[in-house]
Amino acid sequence: MAPRSRSRGKSMSKAAKTIRKIAGNEPIVAGVILGSGLSELGDLLIDRVAIPFSELKGFPGGGVSGHGRDLFVGTLGGKRIAVLTGREHYYEHGNAAAMRPALETLSELGATTLLLTNSAGSLDPGTRPGDLMMIADHINYAGMNPLIGEPSDRRFVNMVNAYDPSLRSRAIAIGARLDISLKEGVYLWYSGPSFETVAEIQMAIRLGANAVGMSTAPEVILARMLGLRVWACSSITNMGAGLSDEHISHEHTKLMAVQGAKKLKRLIPALVEEL
Ligand code: HPA
Repeated sequence: MAPRSRSRGKSMSKAAKTIRKIAGNEPIVAGVILGSGLSELGDLLIDRVAIPFSELKGFPGGGVSGHGRDLFVGTLGGKRIAVLTGREHYYEHGNAAAMRPALETLSELGATTLLLTNSAGSLDPGTRPGDLMMIADHINYAGMNPLIGEPSDRRFVNMVNAYDPSLRSRAIAIGARLDISLKEGVYLWYSGPSFETVAEIQMAIRLGANAVGMSTAPEVILARMLGLRVWACSSITNMGAGLSDEHISHEHTKLMAVQGAKKLKRLIPALVEEL
């Protein structure tokens, strides 16, 4: 059974109450979710209040190394935002809706935009480790949908332009201004936690994907149901299996994510400033 939604006039969630009590009542404009090896982006916040996920009902369990375990509330680019320094993945337990309570909480706190980052493997020879690939669309290859069990008609979410075109063009303009090269492409969600086989990567290429990863797509589906505008960006940490000689591992992902993080640290504040 899907958890009851609180975002339509129902009483405020326990997590939202806790956050307001600790960080204050002023609404946030956006939520940010940080992927593997990218949690240091949270260091950018000014007047930051940190709340451990463990104090927030329904927030990520913090079971994946390279992910942070705190929610930060503070100011970035002059805007009040909340940053999740880690996420929960379908592969941890088989629940594609694991991020639903956290996303509902962000919405309750006033967020109208969700910015997501992740680490991903590239399928394009022109997009290399260290590059950023903005997500233009996704293929839900894992086949699991976080809205299975949602009883209301809200489950029938329109996914056309799920990755907001105007936020994407703004990010491209910011990238050009800051000299950050931004690729754009289709992200294919494989469940993980094993990395893909060489044959699976070849299939993903034929399906029209430009990058593969183990997260983000279910969060975007949930965010669209909640009416949040979405912007998402992959930090490319490796070429997909079989496309290069590098040895793919979680250690390698965490190590390589640092390069993308440096660029995201410049890009995201400028994007948030324009929200
Ligand atoms: N596949 C899936 N997820 C990933 C990869 C990959 O190659 N790299 C980083 N996250």
